[in-house]
Parts: sequence; C-alpha cells; structure tokens
Amino acid sequence: MKKKWWHDKIAYQIYPKSFLDTNGDGIGDLRGVITKLDYLKELGIDIIWLSPIYQSPFVDQGYDISDYYNIGEEFGTMKDFDELLAETKKRDMYVVMDLVVNHCSDKHEWFQKALKDPYGKYAGYFHFVKGKDGRVPNNWRSYFGGSVWEPVPGTDMYYLHFFAKEQPDLNWENQELRQEIYKMINWWLEKGIAGFRIDAIINIKKDLRFPSFEPDGPDGLASCIKMVEEVGGVGDYFEDIKRNTFAKYDAFTVAEVFNMKEDELTEFIGDDGHFSTMFDFSAHTLMQGEKGWYENKTFDFKGWRDTIFASQLQLQKVGFAANIIENHDEPRGASRFLPEHARNEAGKKMLATTSLLLYGIPFIYQGQEIGMTNCRREDISEYDDISTKDQYREALVAGCTKERAMEVCFENSRDNARTPMQWSSGRNAGFTEGEPWLALNSNYREINVEEQAGRSDSLLSYYKALTALKKHPEYKETLTYGRFAPDYEENGDVFAFHRISEAGQDVFVAANYGKEPQTLMLAGGCEKVLLSNMGKETVKKEETDCSGCLTLDSCEAAVLLLR
Ligand code: GLC
Ligand code: CA
Repeated sequence: MKKKWWHDKIAYQIYPKSFLDTNGDGIGDLRGVITKLDYLKELGIDIIWLSPIYQSPFVDQGYDISDYYNIGEEFGTMKDFDELLAETKKRDMYVVMDLVVNHCSDKHEWFQKALKDPYGKYAGYFHFVKGKDGRVPNNWRSYFGGSVWEPVPGTDMYYLHFFAKEQPDLNWENQELRQEIYKMINWWLEKGIAGFRIDAIINIKKDLRFPSFEPDGPDGLASCIKMVEEVGGVGDYFEDIKRNTFAKYDAFTVAEVFNMKEDELTEFIGDDGHFSTMFDFSAHTLMQGEKGWYENKTFDFKGWRDTIFASQLQLQKVGFAANIIENHDEPRGASRFLPEHARNEAGKKMLATTSLLLYGIPFIYQGQEIGMTNCRREDISEYDDISTKDQYREALVAGCTKERAMEVCFENSRDNARTPMQWSSGRNAGFTEGEPWLALNSNYREINVEEQAGRSDSLLSYYKALTALKKHPEYKETLTYGRFAPDYEENGDVFAFHRISEAGQDVFVAANYGKEPQTLMLAGGCEKVLLSNMGKETVKKEETDCSGCLTLDSCEAAVLLLR
C-alpha cells in the first residue's frame, strides 16, 4: 500500500448547527468551532469534517445548497471561515468540507434559471424529463418518500429529485455542469482545505432511459436505490472528478457510499482508487429494515461483531476504510451498539476501544466522546428532520400505533445525533445563550464536557488516552498499518482482535460485551497493559511463566502488548 499523509490521522465530524453558538441566535456557528479548536486538539483530533456550512434554505439541514461559494449567514462569514482555516493550520489540523453535488437546492440560481427557461442552458444542468400520458415519467420513490418527480411549471416536463423536492438532482451527463462543479471544488482546495467528505455520490449516475421497476411498497413505487444498483459507469464520473480536482491537490476524500457493487472496492479505495477512503457502514446497514425504520432490527452483539470483522478482513486487503460509530444521519452509538446492561460509562469506553483501534481512519462524531445518547420526544412535531417525518408516516401507514411509531423515531431518528452539543450543566448545556434551534437532550445535566473534563476516569479522558495510544510513537506503526486479525470468534460475548505489524509487534484489543466475566488465554503472554477501561490490574499471571490469562469483567476492555 502506498503511504498517504492522512493514514495515521484521527478525524472528527462537526455538525456546525449544533456545535456551539456564539451570538445567541440559537444556531451553532464558525466562531463556535474556532473557540473549540484547542478542545479538539487536546482530544487528539487532526482532521475536522464540517457538515455543510454553505448558503442553504435548510430544507435538509444544509444538504440543500443554494450557493457553493458562500458561507450560510447563520454560520458566519467567509472571514470567519478563513480565520478558522488559519487557526487549524497553526495547530497542525486539517479542514474537510462537505461536498454535496448529487443535487443542489431549488433556490440555487441554476435551478431558478432553469425554471425560467425550461428549454434553455440551465435546464440541461438538471433532469427535466417529459411525462408519460400526463403522468410522471416513472415509478421511482425518493429517499425521503414519494415520487422522485415534481412538475416543471408551465411545461409537460418533470424534474428529478432523489431526496426532497427542494433538492433537484444535477445532471452529470452535462459537460458544462461538470466543469462548474470542478471549478468550485478547485476553488475550495485553492483556499487551503485538505479535502472533502463526499455526499451521496453513488447517486450521480442516472439510467437516462428512466425505466420503471417492480413496485416494492404499498404506494406502488420502487425505491430509486434499485436504479443505483443496476446502472453501470458511475466510476467514469469519479475518475473524471478526481483527475480534474482532488488528484492535483493530494486531497483527502472520504465518500459516502451505499449500494456499491461488491467487486468495485479496489476501484473505489485501492491505491489508485477514486477516493482516499469511504465510510464503512456495514454495521449500520446490518440493522436496516426492508421497508423502513419500523422494520429495523434490534442489536445483536455477535451479528454486529462478525459483520465488522468480515468488513475489516475484506477492506484491509484493498485500502483504508473510515470507521464510524455514529454520524449526523444515524442514532447515537451508545444507544444502539451496546446491550442494555452496558449502557453506562464503562460500556461506552469499551465501544470506543473496539472501534478506534480497528484498521482504518477513525471518525469521531461530536458528542460521541462524552457519550451523548438518543433523545426522547413526546410528539412527532418536536422533530425537525425531514426523513424522520417521512419514516413516522411510513410506520403509521404500515399499521404501527402512534406510540410504536414514536418509539421507532426514538430509536432511529437522525435528530438523535443533531441535538446540541452538551458543553456544561448550565443553561442550554452551554450551547447557546438564546433559544436552541433544536431542543436539547435533557440528560445534559449529567452528560457534559465540563463534568468529564475535570474527571480523570471520565469517558472524555478515556477518549484522549485512546487517541494518544493510537499516536504513541512505539505503537503508531502497528495501530496504523498493522494487520487486523480477529480472535476468540467462537466466544459470543467477546470482541477481540490483534493488530500485528510487519515487524511482528502484536497489540491485542479485547472487550467483554457480555454480562458474565470472561477469561481469555494469551498464548505467549502479555508484555504490557497499554490501556484498560477499568483502571485496574487486568492481566493475571498464570503459574507458568510464558502464558498469561486475561480476565475481563462485564463491560471491561483492555489493550495489551503481547510477547
Ligand atoms: C447524505 C447526508 C444526509 C442528506 C443526504 C442528502 O446522506 O449525509 O444528511 O440528507 O445525503 O444530501
Ligand atoms: Ca449563532
């Protein structure tokens, strides 16, 4: 594998709207991010991914961009952004922006011009397609529910949108559009950002015949995912983007990819892949229901662990994955990937241990480092997220009671991760002096940065120890490039793996997700305990000199250097 500058880095996702508000309007802003750079540096963060901060009507919380060249006024100004960039550079940190180019906002001037002149140049930037017998061109369902087609006023055409109707899809077949996008990407890279997290990018290739599919739901529609899975040739677009932009800057790119064809992994993230890396969502899709959130599966430890193992084994042959526990589209990991008895601080430390030391580049999502959890709401009106509203409706249509549908939202809503960051036990958790744009999780009085920063055995302190271990000069090579090898797979309670360097250094990571203590025999014995989440002597020497055994209590995790 070719070594890259970002291989040994640790990334952190900021959802700016909910990070820190500095002017009392209830919305997090860039000045808030600047204020917390030292906090992030201390946490061991190198790369900061900012969810969209561009100008946007916020129908989909900034993933509907109306001007790619301007900072949304809610977040501040370009001057603030430049200052943020300069301040990160002072600290040897990198900024990664969100690149949302499958679609833009319907308020973007391209779309506005297209509506004014539906047969002109800008209409060609979008998919304006003639209806069939006065109806929509086909039966595709959008990701947020309902048809992907919306009428173009005053014509017999419809425009395509895979997400909300306010997010018209861009037509990548159009040369001029592509050049506009490349110009914009290069403009940001010229500014000095390190790269992009690339949104929904697998969707940019469209089957221009727009075939209808066998309906897969009571609405008579078929998910547009079906087209994504069937259409070929998306890789040509990716290469074209890379050649014209990223490659020229040695940019770091992390793609959001679902529904990739399995044999394409090398093309995507191999040495000369389209992207630097892509998120490993295997643990997340594992829990996905057939028809909607109401069918999502509950957590099953062994299935989850084995899925991660399989994914690690496959990925390390090819490249570097980006490992996440949660992000702004997923419920909180602490509420999802821990069995009931482990939903405590020890359990959260254990989850962090078995995630951050996997093969790949770790991404920590804001609040994960203090163990923020899902947030219960009483009524659907308390949710903001467009997808949650759709999924709530779907659940009701499928026959769920209101109570059950609310439970489904509690377990799966994207708003779970979007509640404001919990900085302190003070008013509004120290997030804002005004009214927060989205209500806080009431548990901020117990779970907050201020409390944990002052406590050496807190989850936050443990995250710092973990990132420090990953960067420790003696173990860095192993924890970056060392081969991943699962162990104790037959034990249905233990999450254990080795990271083994070419020189033979063997770092063993083990955690007990079960209720009962577990004893693991260590062939060769333990040289040193590198980290333990319970702060006690975990490795007991056997009578024999050369072998040791490791007894892990429930929720205990340990990292050992083996002999
Ligand atoms: C990605 C984003 C998500 C957004 C969607 C449409 O999945 O992560 O938040 O809703 O794309 O842009
Ligand atoms: Ca603000």
